[in-house]
Amino acid sequence: MTPPKAVLTVADKSIELPVLEGALGPNVVDTRTLGAGGLFTYDPGFLSTASCTSSITFIDGDAGLLYYRGYPIEQLAERSDFLETAYLLWYGELPNSDQRKQFEAGVMRHTMLHDQMLSLYKGFRRDAHPMAVMVSIIGAMAAFYPESSDVGDAHEREISMFRLLAKVPTVAAWSYKYNRGEPFIYPQNGMGYAENFLHMLHATPCEPYEPSPVLARALDRIFILHADHEQNASTSTVRMAGSSYANPFACIAAGTACLWGPLHGGANEAVLKMLAQIGDVSRIGEFVAKAKDKSSGFKLMGFGHRVYKNMDPRAAIMRQTCHEVLDELGLHDDPMFKIALKLEQIALEDEYFIQKRLYPNVDFYSGIVLRALGIPTSMFTAIFALARTAGWIAQWGEMVANPAHKIARPRQLYTGLQRREFVPVALRE
Ligand code: SDX
Repeated sequence: MTPPKAVLTVADKSIELPVLEGALGPNVVDTRTLGAGGLFTYDPGFLSTASCTSSITFIDGDAGLLYYRGYPIEQLAERSDFLETAYLLWYGELPNSDQRKQFEAGVMRHTMLHDQMLSLYKGFRRDAHPMAVMVSIIGAMAAFYPESSDVGDAHEREISMFRLLAKVPTVAAWSYKYNRGEPFIYPQNGMGYAENFLHMLHATPCEPYEPSPVLARALDRIFILHADHEQNASTSTVRMAGSSYANPFACIAAGTACLWGPLHGGANEAVLKMLAQIGDVSRIGEFVAKAKDKSSGFKLMGFGHRVYKNMDPRAAIMRQTCHEVLDELGLHDDPMFKIALKLEQIALEDEYFIQKRLYPNVDFYSGIVLRALGIPTSMFTAIFALARTAGWIAQWGEMVANPAHKIARPRQLYTGLQRREFVPVALRE
């Protein structure tokens, strides 16, 4: 049944607007024609604005639901793996065994970077943040694969998807090795995706390094949890950049830059810094009080979410993964984890957090797991970017392939000065 039209009355004018119904989630008022009538909508943080149609990921923030192409995140995290999830996000269906084998081979045989890219790393200071390196190297790939700029060609788009999925782990791992002053470890195409990443991160040419299958599986699950998340800030950045038909590597570099922010993907690194600052469960109350004091400017990192006004389903899975990894490593007394569990309990019982519906988000526990996996804090957001590359390319591909595509060009509410005449410098005070 077609939803009833919306009627907008402004002064003595009534405007009828179509209401569009999605497969799941809220209906939307189609305001596209308002501009022609001299009216804009105003929603600077996009709190109530749908920027596109998409069939990739669905989130229900009140119910705490997250589906990738209809599959609940809990089932994918438990029973799928990251490359299969990336296939699902891009093609819309889970692969059969032949498709799965072919896809994995396609990804794992494109893991090397063009050899000339190695010299790009040498231009950075040794202490360059991995995210600064990733933004640069991913963007630079556009220079090495100029044919990828033909975004109208579906085959070129698919090749770029494979190249990005395959090479971003290498870019990330090498940015860490560069920080450590250790030689780059080349990808091993016979390894699994997460296993290969751990190998590039921790191996050295001096002795064999075998990643633990349990830890590789935990990391693969973390990749699944971070793979996509509807129209979040970095995905919207990728779509905005891609709407001009920019090169896909440039678009993913733009998304990587946006994800770096501490309010977004940079939060996992900020959570660890916050837990270290708290230092002991006895000081949790002090930090919770600071988070409730607006004048402090302090926010409890890893808490709150624009969409989830209930527990982020990924946070619950991440907490479980935390228990498993810390138990596997004999670190169940990890002080950071103890502080995190106590902080979560105190915050969830606190009226401020209850009233503002602030729950732990995906970033709250991920840092503790990554740290337990031997991954340095500086690499946490790089790992988020590595995993979200799967969602970014799926969302970019969906947008570019959409025949109704239009370049993104928001308007504004102008608050500047009225017209005035130029004053020659000699006449200025
Ligand atoms: C990610 O969008 C996505 O899907 C993102 C993501 C993804 O997968 O792509 O899920 C990944 O980015 C997770 C979020 C990681 N960021 C953090 O953990 C940083 C801390 N959280 C906050 O900065 C905040 O909660 C945001 C940025 C996540 C959400 O901000 P909103 O939606 O703009 O909400 P808001 O800042 O307006 O908060 C509403 C109220 C405010 O108080 P009032 O102005 O109403 O009095 O809640 C307060 C905020 O001050 N608040 C917090 C808080 N988060 C919100 N108070 C204390 N601590 C916090 N963490």
